Amino acid sequence: MSECGGTLRIVPLSDVNLHTLVDLFNDAYSQYYVEIKVTPESLDALIRREDVIPESSCVALLGTMPAGVVFLGVRGERGYICGMGVRQALQGKGIGELLMREALRNAADLGLANVTLEVIDANFRAIRLYRKLGFVRLRDVGVFACEFSCDAGRVEGVSIAGARALEVLPLADKFNEMLPAWQNQPQSIAKMSRRLEALVAQSRGATVGYAVFGAAGDDMLLLDVAVSPREGADRRKSIAAALVHSAWMHNNPSKGRAFNLPLGGYQEQALIECGYEMTLKLQEMVVCLR
Ligand SMILES: CC(C)(COP(=O)(O)OP(=O)(O)OC[C@H]1O[C@@H](n2cnc3c(N)ncnc32)[C@H](O)[C@@H]1OP(=O)(O)O)[C@@H](O)C(=O)NCCC(=O)NCCS
Repeated sequence: MSECGGTLRIVPLSDVNLHTLVDLFNDAYSQYYVEIKVTPESLDALIRREDVIPESSCVALLGTMPAGVVFLGVRGERGYICGMGVRQALQGKGIGELLMREALRNAADLGLANVTLEVIDANFRAIRLYRKLGFVRLRDVGVFACEFSCDAGRVEGVSIAGARALEVLPLADKFNEMLPAWQNQPQSIAKMSRRLEALVAQSRGATVGYAVFGAAGDDMLLLDVAVSPREGADRRKSIAAALVHSAWMHNNPSKGRAFNLPLGGYQEQALIECGYEMTLKLQEMVVCLR
């Protein structure tokens, strides 16, 4: 690392000021697959919303220059890499690997059982790094966009009603066989709940499904949609589609977006039925620490 001046050391994120992090993050992601640009406000909000622990997250310093960063989020015994990046000019020199090893050491010191992350399926450099450090693919998730929602039709015996986002959060555990991706989990949603709305699907007096969504400008952001596994595969898809379409009618947006929803199951089928298209495929990866 001497060619760029100074020795390389890893410090906790809490030692580095927010404006420095913003500059580092935006440089690292400047030639990314999708446009990602943070501001001090949005990065600070991300850190809080995703339960990032600044003392356990890491920044690589080359001399005094911040060279790379990894954000570690923690919920109970579960950890999450909320983002990692190395300054463009310094990529491919081992800094990313050093950072991730340190973050995983911190995660193990915290007694975490596992650490997950999402990575764009085409980001082979990052995937190679993660595999090298023991991460394996858990499932695929997708980013979806929609310009016009088709009417998914009524589902016999099911009615749809408005609800508060906070009210439906306990259902996430009950209706999802696997937790939603980190940023769509109840802990993230709860922190945004004042800006979000929800719909529930009811059948025979019981709640059998929900959708949580919010407005982002003229767009509608769908954060989660889930239906009880008791409904059976086909009905599950139809109820999910009815919820998504009702959310659309309720918001009347110019565009719809959904991030990191599971692929290969009823949620993806429901989105497609409503006119959504997948714009990006990601892998959710996990490493077990004990
Ligand atoms: C992905 C990223 C964090 C990796 O950090 P890095 O410092 O460039 O990676 P390292 O030099 O530590 O390399 C570690 C491993 O990554 C893989 N890797 C890194 N650069 C690579 C390249 N150009 N081609 C193929 N594999 C590569 C290799 O497995 C490498 O190990 P090896 O040299 O023993 O084969 C960095 O490239 C980056 O910031 N990219 C832009 C932002 C991004 O994609 N972040 C990840 C989002 S999930």
